[in-house]
Amino acid sequence: MDMSRILLVSLSLFLGSTLAEFQRFEHPAKDDGSLSFLVVGDWGRRGTYNQSQVALQMGGVGEKLDINFVVSTGDNFYDNGLTGVNDLAFEESFTNVYTAKSLQKQWYSVLGNHDYRGDAEAQLDPVLRKIDSRWLCLRSFVLNAEIAEFFFVDTTPLIDMYFSTPKDHTYDWRGVLPRRKYIANVLKDVESALRESSAKWKIVVAHHAIRSAGHHGDTRELVQHLLPILEANNVDLYMNGHDHCLEHITSKDSPIQFLTSGAGSKAWRGDVKGLNGDGVKFFYDGQGFMSVQLTQTEAQIMFHDAFGNVLHSWAVSKPLYSSI
Ligand SMILES: *[C@@H]1O[C@H](CO)[C@@H](O)[C@H](O)[C@H]1NC(C)=O
Repeated sequence: MDMSRILLVSLSLFLGSTLAEFQRFEHPAKDDGSLSFLVVGDWGRRGTYNQSQVALQMGGVGEKLDINFVVSTGDNFYDNGLTGVNDLAFEESFTNVYTAKSLQKQWYSVLGNHDYRGDAEAQLDPVLRKIDSRWLCLRSFVLNAEIAEFFFVDTTPLIDMYFSTPKDHTYDWRGVLPRRKYIANVLKDVESALRESSAKWKIVVAHHAIRSAGHHGDTRELVQHLLPILEANNVDLYMNGHDHCLEHITSKDSPIQFLTSGAGSKAWRGDVKGLNGDGVKFFYDGQGFMSVQLTQTEAQIMFHDAFGNVLHSWAVSKPLYSSI
């Protein structure tokens, strides 16, 4: 063991839980203080299943809104994530698809369950940033973008099914086991990061839906363990993928808006459930993405299809000085 290793080990013993906290990143807002970004999920299919169509439309909307960055809600590479850092799917499904000028911005990504079926650690590897500097994917992290703070949460390890009935899939659980400890840490760290945040807008990004009228429906584990933390800490928006659709669901228990953007490629599953369910304001079974524009007092959310149509638009305002 060399000297720096020894130093690191003693440091981590000394700092204890501090080192386990989410890594933090900063991204400046625009000069006028506003922020805009696109959200896409469930996409990497080498351009097929209308992925390239969606990418083209993202380019146009990205330009119009002069976006600061792009958020990916996971399932970045189908069907089974990346095989390693040299997997050509990274360029074939990402670099060569999102070619528009306006999309040459930082991408912030989480992992989806399909990403865990490959070499999950490859997607987190800084080597990928040398191939395409836009790429940043971590399990869980915090992004401070001045008026908004983003809390990216790795939800795949929270879902029982992937452990109890993996079927013929193998998941890359390196870095996740022992599972109970991993989950406890994620929940503790998201709770403390949210509690300490003084951002005007608090946005949580993850792969799995808390609430969905789509194929997978609500995610029991997240309703049980994550939702109470979000409700107690004034989260404004929860954004996810997983269901290959676009949807907007409101809550009667809190101001949280549940926004699914998981329509980056394969969609049209046709098994929508609970369309008339409580709080479902919008549901689209086809391909598309979401755009978000934020100022100190206004949030504007739009869902776009693969042809450049705005399918649903929703806005909310907050007083400039709200009680904290
Ligand atoms: C591509 O989009 C069009 C229009 O939404 C749709 O009719 C078609 O089925 C889509 N193709 C695939 C492979 O999903």
